[in-house]
Amino acid sequence: MADCDSKLLSVDDRSPQNDFTAVVNLPPGWRAPESAFDADLEIFVLEGVVGVNGMAVGGDGYALVPAAAGVNLHSDTGARALFFALPRLETTTETEIRVIDCWNIEWDDVSYSGEVAFLGLRRKTLHVDEPAGRRSVLLAVQSHAIPPERRGRKEHHPCTEEFYLLGGDLISDRGTMREGAYFWRPEEIEHGPFASRTGCLAFVRFQGHNFANHLSEETHEIDLYPQYRPILPAEMCRKLDWEWRSAFRT
Ligand SMILES: [Fe+2]
Repeated sequence: MADCDSKLLSVDDRSPQNDFTAVVNLPPGWRAPESAFDADLEIFVLEGVVGVNGMAVGGDGYALVPAAAGVNLHSDTGARALFFALPRLETTTETEIRVIDCWNIEWDDVSYSGEVAFLGLRRKTLHVDEPAGRRSVLLAVQSHAIPPERRGRKEHHPCTEEFYLLGGDLISDRGTMREGAYFWRPEEIEHGPFASRTGCLAFVRFQGHNFANHLSEETHEIDLYPQYRPILPAEMCRKLDWEWRSAFRT
């Protein structure tokens, strides 16, 4: 992808393959060299069209490309897409390329805990590989989602959670996320409570076994207009120092 603009969203530099998540702009006419990837790959298309072995994957299209599968990736029109590169695990069961048009699949028939009913959560499952401990879903939250009495529970998971906001807003204790917001969160870190003004749609991935949502016993007051205070890697902390400056001051 040397000829593409990209933003690296996260990278695991402890793994031999430097597994990464990136948002990539593929220029018109782009074509990946054959066998360019020796990792499992997930692709979620934000704009444009990506060709995956001749299949056209457009906006809100998802492709799972196992490392073992030969793949021909290209874009005639150009595209912007999320790329998730994962280490090839012995426990990975996927061997076939899978393409999903997320517009066309049904919401899961799933009921969440009554404690988070106010979020009006809906889910579309794109990929579950239990032996490898991987799960990728689209998650929707309804608008004006607010916990009763404006007090909600925090949650944590025994696995990592990764999240890219496709549209709308999601309010939490660390600020309000909007389109293009991203986080990668290690396991067992408490987060929330959540609320949303306009509702949102997000691409969410979990890695690790024993996926579960654990909710706190106590409730916490939700701030609908929270300060922006993300936890960032040291090299990114300077971004928090940005301040508004008046262009009109003489
Ligand atoms: Fe979570």
